[in-house]
Amino acid sequence: MTARAHSLRQGPMLEVENLSLAFGGVRAIDALSFRVEPGEVFAIIGPNGAGKTSVFNAITRVFDPQGGSIRVRGCDMLALKRHQVIGAGVARTFQNIELFEGASVLDNLMLGRHRFPQGSFLAQWFRPHWVARAEAASRERIEDIVELLDLAAWRNAPVAGLPYGVRKVVELARALAAEPALLLLDEPASGLNPEETRDLSFWIDDIRHDLGITVVMVEHDMSLVARAADRVLCMNQGAALALGKPAEVQSDPRVVAAYLGA
Ligand SMILES: Nc1ncnc2c1ncn2[C@@H]1O[C@H](COP(=O)(O)OP(=O)(O)OP(=O)(O)O)[C@@H](O)[C@H]1O
Ligand SMILES: [Mg+2]
Repeated sequence: MTARAHSLRQGPMLEVENLSLAFGGVRAIDALSFRVEPGEVFAIIGPNGAGKTSVFNAITRVFDPQGGSIRVRGCDMLALKRHQVIGAGVARTFQNIELFEGASVLDNLMLGRHRFPQGSFLAQWFRPHWVARAEAASRERIEDIVELLDLAAWRNAPVAGLPYGVRKVVELARALAAEPALLLLDEPASGLNPEETRDLSFWIDDIRHDLGITVVMVEHDMSLVARAADRVLCMNQGAALALGKPAEVQSDPRVVAAYLGA
């Protein structure tokens, strides 16, 4: 796959402004603002319950924020329905892996491409040329991703029987199959061993450089954050506590105090 035109567009990839989201009395996100530039790997850290996953849930329209705005490449995400998020160029993985357990790895990746039209049932039945071409292109894309993420050995295996580390990679692959401009990864290294975590840092590099995809990841593993991220936002109690280069944020006394307090 070649570098994507998205990353050449002007303006920020993601702009979050004054975002607030509450559940009853709990302020999950509290007047949060930050922006992510095209081509960046941006990490969000913070103690448990800081609001990190809630930011992803607001961007992907799982929850309706009470205030603020979210723009992806200038597109007002809050004007979209949940099923339109992928069409806006945003794909994500989940803190608890969400895959079709009974389906094979390849089928899960094909499902990741559902936003690309392959024709109606009738069109597929008669298989005009354009349907066949779209299918072939989809399969080619998926083969590229299988190769990139080293999944060839598992391609026909049902997801349910795979080791945890492999399932995490399949979920990443499925998100890539949607050909996003912005990829949101919620704790991609959780449950991975050090070797798998190192592989992940190389893949994140490839995803950014070879595929031109902007990455925002929520992550507790500071070794991965330090290796992979350009900038880090530390959240605490729904708000931004510190923003900067990984080493700066990790040694920020407010950040250290927030983790100790948690
Ligand atoms: N669906 C929900 N209903 C009620 N409260 C919620 C819901 N989702 C999140 N919260 C609350 O919002 C706050 C932020 O939660 P969130 O899951 O965003 O934190 P997090 O930073 O991702 O934490 P962790 O590191 O543990 O995953 C917490 O107090 C949480 O209990
Ligand atoms: Mg979370």
